[in-house]
Amino acid sequence: PVLVVDFGAQYSQLIARRVREADVYSEIVPHTTPPHEILAMDPAAIILSGGPSSVYASDAPGLDEAVVTAGVPVLGICYGFQAMAQALGGSVERTGRREYGQTVATVEDTESTLFAGQPGEQVVWMSHGDAVIQPPEGCAVTASSPGAPVAAFEDDERRLYGVQWHPEVLHTAHGQQVLVNFLSRGAGLERTWTSENVAQQLIEQVREQVGQDRVLCALSGGVDSSVAAALVQRAVGDQLTCVFVDHGLLREGEAAQVEHDFVEATGVDLVVVDARQRFLTALSGVTDPEAKRKAIGREFIRVFEQAARDVVQDRGDDDHPVKWLVQGTLYPDVVESGGGAGTANIKSHHNVGGLPEDLQFSLIEPLRSLFKDEVRQVGLELGVPESIVWRQPFPGPGLGIRIVGEVTAERLDVLRRADLIAREELTAAGLDRDIWQCPVVLLADVRSVGVQGDGRTYGHPIVLRPVSSEDAMTADWSRLPYDVLARISSRITNEVEDVNRVVLDITSKPPGTIEWE
Ligand code: XMP
Repeated sequence: PVLVVDFGAQYSQLIARRVREADVYSEIVPHTTPPHEILAMDPAAIILSGGPSSVYASDAPGLDEAVVTAGVPVLGICYGFQAMAQALGGSVERTGRREYGQTVATVEDTESTLFAGQPGEQVVWMSHGDAVIQPPEGCAVTASSPGAPVAAFEDDERRLYGVQWHPEVLHTAHGQQVLVNFLSRGAGLERTWTSENVAQQLIEQVREQVGQDRVLCALSGGVDSSVAAALVQRAVGDQLTCVFVDHGLLREGEAAQVEHDFVEATGVDLVVVDARQRFLTALSGVTDPEAKRKAIGREFIRVFEQAARDVVQDRGDDDHPVKWLVQGTLYPDVVESGGGAGTANIKSHHNVGGLPEDLQFSLIEPLRSLFKDEVRQVGLELGVPESIVWRQPFPGPGLGIRIVGEVTAERLDVLRRADLIAREELTAAGLDRDIWQCPVVLLADVRSVGVQGDGRTYGHPIVLRPVSSEDAMTADWSRLPYDVLARISSRITNEVEDVNRVVLDITSKPPGTIEWE
């Protein structure tokens, strides 16, 4: 793999994604990984990420010279560029001239490895206080900027490259080209990380891991569990049984998509458990968001446990017991959980399909090396229906946490109809892929006065919460066209009884979260 040495998580995941977008496999390792371990992973190239530190800070994460002198092609970015310069004997100084945000860099050598085929002036995204003053011996300066006399250097002989700015961010005009040039011209790597190859590799891995055993998968209708299931089914066929718990908190049409479209496209063996009444009972009288999440999580585990026992009884044979449980874990979860430092429990995200302890399955996580966009590509490759592959993120507790107030069958019905209208109009306007997701929320305990026809109404508001985001950790509210908002508002208030007002949530995250509960 191409190893991205992580000096600051925010940047390193983005770099790894960009490398993969260039069809080259990449993995992230923390900067605390000892050099011999890094080299033992046999990296095809190493990228040193940016980070928040100054190389002068007493707690600055260090870079061992061994990493940059082992003969492996290296690209240093921002902090990684400075750390690399320092490790190789160049000099880095606090110039007192900070550069932050968009800057114009001057490329001195447009024939160089990193900048071939690019213009001599480039808009780049900078974020630094220190600057490289003197490049390491043997490294030619290939770009400069007002605040960085040495904004890029390279040494083709030792295959060492660096840039002060961030090629991974979209604000850097030719950033992806710089990365591609490093990977192909600098490191001589081939573009083999394509969705076809990835799918094939993962299928083989699953086949090897599972052998003749039986596998169980909790299908939620979301992208991750669906693609994971499709992959496992392609690998081991009927050894896989999927369990879909219909908790009645799904949106209009979603249960049908799983029960019919998905099964038809993939041929999975599916057990559907109708637990709608059971969830309504468990949620009766519950209004506190955390209490709702806990109730839904608890019920889910119970229903799933029972279904799993039934499957074991019905389909397990003694020679080939159900041994594996599929989880749709993605690479960012793996990186983040390896990242150590505890994160605050803002909401108790229950992962649908959470492992009941006494069931004693081993976990199989076929997507744990993939980013979300790669999961989608692999899904398409496997023939998972587009309606599922392009589905926007939807929380495990479903509509249960989009009704502020108690969850009842009637309220679910109201919300489902409003949500369907919003989705229809967003799709018709071609906006599905521009927005990250658009929760539609029913304020069931709020009423306001309205007028309709010639009568007074006293109905509930619906909140639209369209957001744009890269990873759901932060988000901004989407600036949807007014005419689309107008159509959604007019249709919801006309077509959904009990709703007489539509409001727009214009809060970013932070301080708001994406969901309301
Ligand atoms: P928040 O509301 O925390 O949501 O900004 C961030 C992202 O996570 C989704 N979400 C969940 N997903 N189980 C899930 O699988 C959950 O309990 C859950 N709660 C929130 C939310 O839709 C958004 O994409």
